[in-house]
Order: sequence, then C-alpha cells, then structure tokens
Amino acid sequence: MGRPFVLAQISDLHLKAGGQRSYGVFDSAAMLRACLRHLLSLKQQPDAVAFTGDLTDRGLPEEYVLLRELLAPLRMPVYLIPGNHDRRAEMRAAFPAHAYLGQSPGLIRYVIDAHPLRLVALDTVVEGESGGNLGEESLDWLDATLASAPAHPTVVLMHHPPFRTHIGHMDAFGLRDPAPLAAVIERHSQVQAILCGHVHRGIQARFAGTIASTAPSPVHQVALDLDSEAPSRFMMDPPAYRLHAYSPDAGFASHTAYIGEFSGPHPFR
Ligand SMILES: [Fe+2]
Ligand SMILES: [Fe+2]
Repeated sequence: MGRPFVLAQISDLHLKAGGQRSYGVFDSAAMLRACLRHLLSLKQQPDAVAFTGDLTDRGLPEEYVLLRELLAPLRMPVYLIPGNHDRRAEMRAAFPAHAYLGQSPGLIRYVIDAHPLRLVALDTVVEGESGGNLGEESLDWLDATLASAPAHPTVVLMHHPPFRTHIGHMDAFGLRDPAPLAAVIERHSQVQAILCGHVHRGIQARFAGTIASTAPSPVHQVALDLDSEAPSRFMMDPPAYRLHAYSPDAGFASHTAYIGEFSGPHPFR
C-alpha cells in the first residue's frame, strides 16, 4: 500500500566547531556530514527528521551555528530536542525559524500534529547534570497532551532513556525515577514508541506497555560492556541512525541505517 511515513531519528551528534577532533580521535562535523549525505541518498526520503539531544558537545553558540549550517540541505521538517550536553538558550538562539522550540516558555518541549505520527517531545535536561529528570509539571503536561489526541498514533521523544541498559556507567546517568513516567504512558495506548538517545547504542526495552529505545550515534558509540562496573569508554563502531516507519495498515516499525559505503544491493540468485 505505497510508502509509509518515515521519521528519521539522529541522536548524539556532539558537534564541535572549528574542526576540533573529539578526544583526539574523531571529527564530529565530518561524521555528521557523512550521516546527512547518507540520509539524503536514501531511496525513501524521510518525511521528517528528529534529533534527540546532545546536538552539540558543549552547548556553545558556534557549535549551534555550525549545526544550523550542516542541517541546511535538509528540506523536510527538522525537530530538535536538547540533551545534557546542550544549552536551551543557545539552542533557541541559533534556530529562530524553529517556532516549535518556543511552544513552552522554559523547557524545550512541544507537540507536532502535522504528520501521520504525532510527535510529543520532552525535555529531560537537568542543568549541570549528566542524568535526566521529568518533574511533576512535565508529567502532567505529557498526560494532558496525550489525553488530547487518543486516536492519533504517537511517538514520545526524550533524550534520557527511562530504562536500564546494563551498561553501568550509563545507567548511573539515566532518567531519575522512571516510575511516574510509566504511570502516565500506561494510560495512553496510542504511544507506539518512546525514542531516546544519550546511550550512543541501539537498545530497546519493554516499557509501560510500549517499546522504549535508544538510537545509535552517527559519531561515536558507547562501548558494548554489559557490566554494572563497566568503565566509561567509547568505540568507533559503525555509525548509524534510525528510520521509524509508520502506515495505518502496516503499523510502526523501527530500522537502523548504517552510515558508510557498503557493497550491494545484490540480487538473491
Ligand atoms: Fe551523548
Ligand atoms: Fe546525553
């Protein structure tokens, strides 16, 4: 039945300006360029692109200006949410054309009703901390927002995942107390998925009657070390992003797109 609505999710760019190499290992701007080139060469162009936080490495104005320049070739709607490496004021200042960033006066949270999938974006950032939180007021807003369109299939976007990954050093800086969020999500069966970032790996978990997942990064990945004592390390695993596809007849499914030059497609014969 034709093509689905496709939402690309790109997370944790940790963009640095001025050609600086992160940790002396990689060039985040070059890797984001490669990611966007890959996305723009997809056979099915995404209908929208959501960036789920840690857009920049240090929240500096020049990092957001560079991000705006790099995102300029994207012709589809682009939605940004902050991560713990971002700064709200600097982010808003660099993207004045992104009116949705002003839907809420303090936090960068918003709802987008323009697509077959409704996007509900939360702000989990706690200034000065690596871990995230959703206050009571944010949870009330989420509950009321979801209650206002119970028949519209919805994805919730948030930087910090509400589940434990078994990677100890990341779990130490996850979402503080996911239980009240679970109580809200359980009440709204139209939530197809909760799309997160922060962990720099593709991970999924059952959560409150839906699926919560983290996206891989188009830059560096957190080392695959399923140990509660895992030290904080990263790996240059294949960079990637997600493609979430939805149609009313086939439903919702999430794919991973690896960034690079690969052999194929080859026919099965
Ligand atoms: Fe990150
Ligand atoms: Fe993060």
